[in-house]
Amino acid sequence: LTAAAAALAMSVSATAVSAACDDGEIVVKFSHVTNTDKHPKGIAASLLEKRVNEEMDGKMCMEVFPNSTLYNDNKVLEAMLQGDVQLAAPSLSKFEKFTKKFRLFDLPFMFKDINAVDAFQASDNGQALLDSMQRRGLQGLAYWHNGMKQMSANVPLIEPSDANGLKFRVQSSDVLVAQMEAIGGSPQKMAFSEVYGALQQGVVDGQENTWSNIYGKKFFEVQDGITETNHGIIDYLVVTNIDWLNGLDEDVREQFLTILDEVTTTRNSESAKVNQEAKQAIIDAGGEVRQLNADQRAKWVETMKPVWEQFKGDVGQENIDAAQEINA
Ligand code: LMR
Repeated sequence: LTAAAAALAMSVSATAVSAACDDGEIVVKFSHVTNTDKHPKGIAASLLEKRVNEEMDGKMCMEVFPNSTLYNDNKVLEAMLQGDVQLAAPSLSKFEKFTKKFRLFDLPFMFKDINAVDAFQASDNGQALLDSMQRRGLQGLAYWHNGMKQMSANVPLIEPSDANGLKFRVQSSDVLVAQMEAIGGSPQKMAFSEVYGALQQGVVDGQENTWSNIYGKKFFEVQDGITETNHGIIDYLVVTNIDWLNGLDEDVREQFLTILDEVTTTRNSESAKVNQEAKQAIIDAGGEVRQLNADQRAKWVETMKPVWEQFKGDVGQENIDAAQEINA
């Protein structure tokens, strides 16, 4: 490239980033880490972007950066506080630096399915958690669903003892560290974007995730198989910088929050279906999916559940009780 061509290429790519936005529009950068299609979060983020850009044209302009192209989840909240992004939807496992209350959602076998998660989040206890990081500058706006987590490794996992001595990638959550230690594994916190390579190269032996993440990032291709444990959940907090939100004109804020609310309702009701489709796609692509019988599953429950005791103080017994009441 000549210097002139390089300069041109740079200016083209610089304008390309915000080409969709007009002068005077409030730019909302939304950074996330998953695929855009066949994924509950990716689909919801794209729908939000489309609706904001159509319905708020001239006032607000949203640009979604998926697949960790802008930030990993361990950087995005800091970037938000700096004003570099305005919206993110990290999993609830990734807020430990800001609040320990979300640890409830990582406790193994706390919620029997995503409907139970939904009911808890809609309760007063669940809604109060949206405001739990205000002092730290973050406002929770909505919960977005992914689904139940499954276990995978480079060997078949049928009983918890099969995990003994294996290295597992976990999200940045001490609850998940404790959970993997409970089954005799060595947990390693790692960014989502690094998991495929780490599994492929044997840096870790296994991981836990939802069908849509295992399919979307092709983890099944570098694992022996996936065991349908449904032992935990991945759910998201759509989060923003509270000062940015408060700085919006009221009518703009209300319109934006109304669209977000509608997208949340529409897409949350589809998350289980998206995950079932991803499970089927894994099977169709030749991935091995293993089922547990009732006795085998009971052993996973028995081995993992003692972790609750360790985090009772962080999450509050009243939240555990409320979640358990919903399961009943
Ligand atoms: C993970 O890191 O495994 C997940 O939080 C990724 C995601 O956003 O679903």
